[in-house]
Amino acid sequence: MSAERRSVWRATVLTVFPEMFPGPLGLSLAGRGLGRGLWAMDVLDIRDFARDKHRSVDDEPFGGGPGMVMRADVVDAALSAVADRPGPVIYLTPRGDLLNQGRVRRLAEDQGMTLLCGRYEGVDQRVLEARAVEEVSVGDYVLSGGEPAAIALIDAVVRLLPGIVGNEKSPTEDSFECGLLEYPHYTRPAEWQGRGVPEVLTSGHHEMVRRWRLCEAERITEQRRPDLWARYVERKDRGVKRGRRKE
Ligand code: 6GU
Repeated sequence: MSAERRSVWRATVLTVFPEMFPGPLGLSLAGRGLGRGLWAMDVLDIRDFARDKHRSVDDEPFGGGPGMVMRADVVDAALSAVADRPGPVIYLTPRGDLLNQGRVRRLAEDQGMTLLCGRYEGVDQRVLEARAVEEVSVGDYVLSGGEPAAIALIDAVVRLLPGIVGNEKSPTEDSFECGLLEYPHYTRPAEWQGRGVPEVLTSGHHEMVRRWRLCEAERITEQRRPDLWARYVERKDRGVKRGRRKE
């Protein structure tokens, strides 16, 4: 079957700011892939599912306090409209599971995902429970809404889809794919403001280059991210590399 006729990985986004999409996803690697039909995105305006004459999507929180809460009935109607879409329904929230490359990889292996972007203080808890919505955070800091988080998540998934990154080998050599941060990079000129380039990189000795890069990646990971380093050492000791068993 041709690439055009096969159904491609699809992101469905529910938001009260549909103008934020595709945004950065319309440019660069993701944008080129979108233009070429290698992945697809549908953006639905949650406000279109409001039924009262003011088209309100939020209301005051029970128990009082600041901010507004997205209404369960409106969010439920929006989720009903996309219930046939493939993949999990994910609500972007700073209280969700911290996103990591493993989660991104699993999402890329699915047929798509539906992202619910919250604004205001959040979404009525009952609709999250009723719809078995998963919750994901993109880091321990607070954004003013889920949209930038959704863009980050979609970008991370899309670049793993077949045909998006030019060099097919490249994504698996990324930071995190092998549990290490990236080694340092250099390009011409060989001397810049009195700073040279590590000699091994200009030696033409590919095996030495490979070993130097691994050493640097290990040194930087140990120095900067003891959490990643501990997991890397543990996996290496068990003979597991790049997510596969050596055996
Ligand atoms: Cl997913 N949403 C919001 N609003 N803030 C965040 C986040 C998500 N992840 C980190 N901060």
